[in-house]
Amino acid sequence: MPHFLDIHKTDTSALRDMIDQARAMKSARAGRPKGAPDDTQPLAGQMVALIFEKPSTRTRVSFDVGVRQMGGQTMVLSGNDMQLGHGETIADTARVLSRYVDLIMIRTFDESVLLELADHATVPVINGLTDRTHPCQIMADILTYEEHRGPIRGRRVTWCGDGNNVFSSFLHAAARFGFDITFSGPTALDPEDDFIGLARDAGVSVTIERDPVAAVEGADLVVTDTWVSMHDSQSTKERRHNLLRGYQVNEALMAHAKPDALFMHCLPAHRGEEATSAVMDGPHSVIFDEAENRLHAQKAIMRYCLGT
Ligand code: CP
Ligand code: NVA
Repeated sequence: MPHFLDIHKTDTSALRDMIDQARAMKSARAGRPKGAPDDTQPLAGQMVALIFEKPSTRTRVSFDVGVRQMGGQTMVLSGNDMQLGHGETIADTARVLSRYVDLIMIRTFDESVLLELADHATVPVINGLTDRTHPCQIMADILTYEEHRGPIRGRRVTWCGDGNNVFSSFLHAAARFGFDITFSGPTALDPEDDFIGLARDAGVSVTIERDPVAAVEGADLVVTDTWVSMHDSQSTKERRHNLLRGYQVNEALMAHAKPDALFMHCLPAHRGEEATSAVMDGPHSVIFDEAENRLHAQKAIMRYCLGT
């Protein structure tokens, strides 16, 4: 079953094909109204369930619009409103949904929910973010980097801040797409050792650099994310802010990256915390292209899952 559960669980050539297809599909519909159908309708007759157990703006809207552009239909479901949120097992939910829909996207908390859903579904399942990873986001980020600067292979990506779910997917992407990666954040918020090992085993360089200035020096791409993720308890906010304050991406820090470096943030952002507005709205920033590219990257991911 061609699920899209994580970047490191997906074939390198399939990932490359998805990025290339996303780019081609994006340029084929350039300038058209958002609601206009694509020339080809690879999801005609297909029904897609979009399940959210956490809030979302980009994931929700981009999947919905993407399915419609490709001729399919969607239903957006809140986990709380489903029996899933009231004691029905994940396995039974997967079996039932598979009788109604052709594809399931889920945003959830614990990764085990995603994995169990995929185990029991007879239709493909897409990971729309868990506490542990966010692969659709990084596919959009790769697309965005390559649109602006060409192949990401061999480039140097520096992450500043929390070693969170989004960074984990960056580590997976480093392994698959062949770029070097530097993490700069406090020890207490280090990324998962297993994921660092996975990237190193693939032959890419993973550097842990506590000094953000040294970490950003010569970077081709600087990335950050919120200091408090949706799965983090609000009670940890003050501690997290104290730990992460020194890793803010501001103009002074960006000045250490390569002159043509890009800045990315998956959004939503807390302006003035993990990054300043001067950087987010500045010349290096491609944050809104990144957001747009969720749409195009996910259209290719859905076609991969459905084999269309
Ligand atoms: N970047 C991202 O996944 O945004 P949403 O939480 O709005 O979906
Ligand atoms: N790390 C963030 C990403 C949001 C898209 C979170 O999990 O809340």
